[in-house]
Amino acid sequence: MTKTPELRKIQKLVLDYLNAYPTATTAKLAGMIVEDHPGVGTKSRFMNAINYRRGTAGGTKRKTIKMSERSAIIHSFLRRFPALSLPRISELIFSNHPNQFKDLNDVVSKTVRERTRAFHGGEMPAFKRVHVPPGLRQGQPDLCITGARRMLLLSDLHVPFHDEQAIAAAVEEGVRQGCDSLYINGDAIDFYMLSRFRKDPGMPTSPEEVDLLKTILCTIGEPFVERWYKSGNHEDRLEYYLWTNAPQLSHFPCMELPAVLGLAELGFTHVKSKQVAHVGDVVVVHGHECNVNSGVNPAKSLYTRLGASAVCGHVHTCSTHHEMSPITRKSVHTRSCGCLCDLRPEYHPINRWMHGAAIIEVTASGHSSMRGFRIEDGVVTYV
Ligand SMILES: [Fe+2]
Repeated sequence: MTKTPELRKIQKLVLDYLNAYPTATTAKLAGMIVEDHPGVGTKSRFMNAINYRRGTAGGTKRKTIKMSERSAIIHSFLRRFPALSLPRISELIFSNHPNQFKDLNDVVSKTVRERTRAFHGGEMPAFKRVHVPPGLRQGQPDLCITGARRMLLLSDLHVPFHDEQAIAAAVEEGVRQGCDSLYINGDAIDFYMLSRFRKDPGMPTSPEEVDLLKTILCTIGEPFVERWYKSGNHEDRLEYYLWTNAPQLSHFPCMELPAVLGLAELGFTHVKSKQVAHVGDVVVVHGHECNVNSGVNPAKSLYTRLGASAVCGHVHTCSTHHEMSPITRKSVHTRSCGCLCDLRPEYHPINRWMHGAAIIEVTASGHSSMRGFRIEDGVVTYV
C-alpha cells in the first residue's frame, strides 16, 4: 500500500507521542494528538494507528512498556502523595531511596520529568487542573469613539476656579475649526469642599459648584453634536468623600456623578474616571490614570507611560512630543493640552501652568491627527 503524505504525518505524530508518553492510554494519547494538531486526522484514526504501532490492533491487549526502577519509584510516590509540593516529595523519595539517585537535585529533575509524563498520560488527576479562587476585577473596558470627526478637547476647567475668557476662546476656536464633537477631559469641577486638604469656609459649596458647572456645560456644549464628560481626579473627590463619610449612600445611583451633574439631560456621555478612551488612533486620558508627571516635558512622560499617540490634561501645561519608531517607521505624537482654570490658585500660586486645548481629527479614511493651541489673553496660538 502506498503511503500518502497524510498517512506519513499521522504515523510520525503517533511515533513521537508514543516516545514522549509511553505509559499513556491509547485513547488519551489520540486525544492529545488531535488537540495539539487539529485537522490532521480524527481521534479514531489516531487510535487505530496507535494500536497498530503498539501491536494491539484487532483487540489484542496493549503491550505494557516497562518502566525503569527509578521511574517506578517516583511514580509510586506521585500516586501516593499527589498533593505534595515538588521539594517535599523529592526529599521524601530521596530519604527512602538514597541509593537510587545521585543527589537531591537528581531526584527533583527526574520527578519533574515523571510528573509531566504522568500528567499528560492522564495518570495524575490531582494535577489536571489548578483551582485558584477567582480574583476581583477593578478595570473597566476602554471606550472606543469611532467614525470620522473633528473633536474639541478641553481639560481642567476646575469650576468654580475656571477662567471664563480662556474657556470662551477655546470653544470659539473649536467652532471656527469646524469641530463637531466635544470632549471634556477631566477636572471640569473642583469639588473644593470635598477635598481632604484644608479648606477656606468662604468658598462656594459643592451644590453651588455643581449648579455653576451645569450652566457652563449647557453653554459650551451647545455648538456640538456629540459630547463626552470624563471624570478626572477632582471628580473622584465626590466618591471618595462618600466612601469616607457616608459609605452606605455611595452606591445609590442618585449619588453618583452622572446623576449629580445631570449629564444625560445635558447631552453628555459619561466616561468614568481612569477609563481609557480611544478617538481613532489617539488615546485620550486625563493623566491621573498613568501618573503623567509635570516635569520637563509632560508629553514625553505620557509617551513613556503609554507608548502610543495620546493626549492628556491634568498637568495644566501645553507640551508635545513626536517620536518615530525605527522599526515600524510609524510616528507617535503625544500632547498635554493645558488647562482652562485660574493660573494663580491660592494653594500653588507660582507655577508653569498655561491655558490651552486640543483638536483631534479622524478622517473618513481612518487617519487620526492632533493639534493643540495655547491661549494667552484670549488669543489662540497653535503649538
Ligand atoms: Fe486638574
